Amino acid sequence: MGKVITIKNNKGGVGKSWLTLQLAHIIALILEDKKVLILTSDSQNNILLYANISVPVVSGLEDHVLKGDGDIISLRENLYYIPLIKNNFTKKFREKLRVTIDEFKKEYDYILIDSVPVLNIDQDFVELSDKVVIPTFLDAATTEGITKLMGEIDINKIAAIVPNRYTKTKVEQEWYDDIAKIVDGTDIYLSEPIKQSAVITELIQKGKTILETQSKKAVEFQDIIGEVAGVILREEK
Ligand SMILES: Nc1ncnc2c1ncn2[C@@H]1O[C@H](COP(=O)(O)OP(=O)(O)O)[C@@H](O)[C@H]1O
Ligand SMILES: [Mg+2]
Repeated sequence: MGKVITIKNNKGGVGKSWLTLQLAHIIALILEDKKVLILTSDSQNNILLYANISVPVVSGLEDHVLKGDGDIISLRENLYYIPLIKNNFTKKFREKLRVTIDEFKKEYDYILIDSVPVLNIDQDFVELSDKVVIPTFLDAATTEGITKLMGEIDINKIAAIVPNRYTKTKVEQEWYDDIAKIVDGTDIYLSEPIKQSAVITELIQKGKTILETQSKKAVEFQDIIGEVAGVILREEK
């Protein structure tokens, strides 16, 4: 049975969609013979942009859940994506979501969910998840946001916190130390911060993942995201 991982933060712009794609691609490459699926609760479908896939989005997760069938878009080898048409989750959709996810779990080894906090649907996704990964800024609102999330989500589900778009300021370093203290004594993995980087900006513009470059400058990011992927792949005791 496949594992479900939600990439969650109630803030926009922290890199949820980007990180979801990077993690999914690493997992698909590490586990050559396994299939990885990305779902989203965001009808912007940024994943397609970041993966440089331009296809008309005519059916989506809604169709899978309500009609039992819909488009599945291939992003890379062993890596698939189901878009979302509308951020409009009906009661029926929410009731039937679990059954659909259970079906996907039979076919896909890892299902990563690129979330946005809309209409409590995130709550459903988190409940259906085995693990949650939290990308975050290192700013004033962060510690508060993370502490809040740790109260809302089953703390055992939180696998990793990934500071992103780090600009190496002293204030950010202080927030990093604070988060380190918060997770101390828990099983939560706090990764090294991922810098706000021109290399990443350029790759995003080209529609490439962090693994699709020979640039030596990308190695540190490959290493950090690889570590987080390792945490996702780690089997529970
Ligand atoms: N480490 C990084 N360096 C440079 N740009 C980044 C980095 N991480 C994310 N971005 C860019 O920041 C923006 C927000 O990222 P995105 O994944 O869309 O955030 P979210 O899904 O959380 O709203 C996007 O334009 C993305 O390309
Ligand atoms: Mg997004």
